[in-house]
Parts: sequence; C-alpha cells; structure tokens
Amino acid sequence: MTELFTRRKFLANTGASAGAGLLLGASGVKAAMMAVGGRDSSGTPLKSLAERKGLLYGTAATEHKLTDQAYADVVIRECDLMVPELALKWEALRPSPSTYDFSGADWTLHFAQQHKMQFRGHALVWHLALPKWFNSYATPQNAKELLQSHITTVVSRYAGKMESWDVINEALLPSDKRPDGLRIQPWLQLAGPDYIEMAFRAANAADPKALLVWNENWLEEDTVGAEHKRQYFLQNLKRLLSRSVPVHAIGLQSHLKADHPNIAGPQFQQFLSQVSGMGLKILVTELDVADDKLPNDFTTRDQAVANVYSQYLNTVLAQKAVVAVITWGLSNKYTWITNQNPRSDGAPVRPLPFDENMEPTAAYSAIAQALENAPSR
Ligand code: XIL
Repeated sequence: MTELFTRRKFLANTGASAGAGLLLGASGVKAAMMAVGGRDSSGTPLKSLAERKGLLYGTAATEHKLTDQAYADVVIRECDLMVPELALKWEALRPSPSTYDFSGADWTLHFAQQHKMQFRGHALVWHLALPKWFNSYATPQNAKELLQSHITTVVSRYAGKMESWDVINEALLPSDKRPDGLRIQPWLQLAGPDYIEMAFRAANAADPKALLVWNENWLEEDTVGAEHKRQYFLQNLKRLLSRSVPVHAIGLQSHLKADHPNIAGPQFQQFLSQVSGMGLKILVTELDVADDKLPNDFTTRDQAVANVYSQYLNTVLAQKAVVAVITWGLSNKYTWITNQNPRSDGAPVRPLPFDENMEPTAAYSAIAQALENAPSR
C-alpha cells in the first residue's frame, strides 16, 4: 500500500494520472515513470528522500532560469528549498545608496511559496556582487550604518518567511595573513573586524526566527590550506559564541572538483564534529562538482562526478548536525560552472544531477543513494 501510495504520489507530481498508473500494473507503472520522470529506481524526488531523514533538499535559481517551464518542473518536483542565486545580493537589491529593488527576490519568494518550498536568503555581507556605486560611496564614517540599515531593511522584509540567511559569506582568507584569518576586503577595511558580530546581531533583531549562517568556501579538501581555514573558522566561531553572538549554523559551500578527489577526510570530519559540538547546525549550501579537467566521454565523466558526490555526501550526511543539502543549480543547462570552470575542449560541463534535457545523471543516483544512506535526524 505504501509503495502504491508513493507511486501514486509520484505520478500525480509528474502530472500523470494515478488512476492510469494503477490500471497499468507494476511494470506499466515503471514504464510510465520512466516516460514521465525519465528515472528508474523508485522515482522518488530528492526532496522526499531528504524529508524522510529530516533534511531539506534545495537549489539556487534565478527568475530567468525558472521561466523555462521544463526547468521549473524539475525544480518543483525535486526541491523543497529555494535560494535566489542573485536576487538577494547587494548588486541586485541596491540600485543606488538610497533605494532598494526587491522585485527579483519577491518573485522568487512567490515561486517558492506557490510550490511549498522553504526560502533561504543569500547573502547579506559579501565582498563580491557589490553595486557599482559602492566604492565611491562607502567610507569608514558611513560603512557601519550602511551595512546595519541594509541588513535591517532586507531581513525585516522577509521576516518569518526565511528558513535561513547567509549573514556572512566567504569572510575567511588565511593567506591574507591576519591573526584572525579574516579576508582583507571592503567591509573589514571600512567597518573593522567587528562587522561580523554586528551583522549577526542586526539580522537576529530583524528576524529572530531565521537560522543565521556563516557560509564559507574551500573547507572540504584534505589539504593544509583547507585545514588552516577550518581552524580559523573554529577560532572565529568560538569567539562569537563566547560573546553570545546569534550565529546558528555554518554553510559549507561545497564547490567540489572531480579532479580533486581528496575531500572529506578525517580532519574535515573532525571539524564537522567540533562545529556540531558547539551546538551549531551545518548546511551544504552550494554543492556542485566541476568536471572541466575530466575526459570528454560522458559516461566516464558522469561517473567520476557521481563518485565525488557519493564520497562527499556519505561523509557529510553521517553528521546529524547537517540539516540541508543544496546544489548550486539542478540541471547542467543552467550552471555557473559553464563560466567559472569551462572545459578547454569547449564541451558542455556536467556538474549537476540533471542533464540539459532534465534527465537524471549518475550524480542524481549518487545524491539519492546518499540521502537513503543518511541517518535520520
Ligand atoms: C555565483 C552565481 O552562481 C553566478 O551566476 C554569478 O555570476 C557569481 O556568483 N559562491 C557564492 C555564490 O556564494 O553567490 C556564487 O554564485 C558562487 C560562489
């Protein structure tokens, strides 16, 4: 009965008739599922596999991408969490120092609400995607007020509607050689290193319900550099928590590379345990696997990418502090890797779980399997 119900739900989700499915019998149902969803195995959406373990599964997207109906259909079917990929960055929100443009973010929130997805904010403080006017406008005199009022205005607008907010994004850069490991960037230079504490406090005051996240890149590899960064991260988190700063979670961006398979080793696992031991949650916020250095052959390439997904997610999801898995896009038709890590042979990149025709790749099966392997939380 449960199996039938799952299949019925699947067929309903994909727009096929459950009644027809029941009349077809088991093999007919399977054929219909493949025809409709293009997937074998159980055809269960990633969000349902995640939900069974107390996890969320999501993607980043833009309004432009979601107006492609075939893409929107896959996002709706697979995800219960939506992150605006661009619309909540300063560049999009702040046409001028005195104005806000919420149109893109509001559109994405409406899309998420319409399809019963949770909504996640990205990002309040980042050294990139600042508006053109920023450099000539921001000064040591006005920077704190500029940041504080931005956070208060933006977070208040979506208060009660946000699952979580990336308050701080990519603030660490040990190679800048500061004793606190912080990146030397405009907010630090103009507002001082306490900009981090100030940002978390302002966000918490404006939306006491949202999970407040410090999101970082390049934490996942088994390298000296990544370990360095993990130690600086722990040092900063301890300091903030000792001052009762409302930081609730960390984000592991998880932009992985298929040609760097040394990831998620014992030191990384220890880092996750330490973060969890501090009472913090963990989100996988921007997962994808760049395949630009792999041979062109799709089967070989997809398998190597899938292996990295498996290895990484099986390790990370074993940690019960992890509450969400978000891929930075869902289909290879729309991925920042096309520009970020293009292939020298000019072939299209394949870093995500669905191909350009919205068919699942080996990465989809790897993610599905890792969600099935994950302990419940
Ligand atoms: C990326 C977007 O995907 C691109 O479309 C844009 O051109 C640049 O930003 N880390 C982050 C994200 O925190 O905001 C970035 O998103 C990818 C790296």
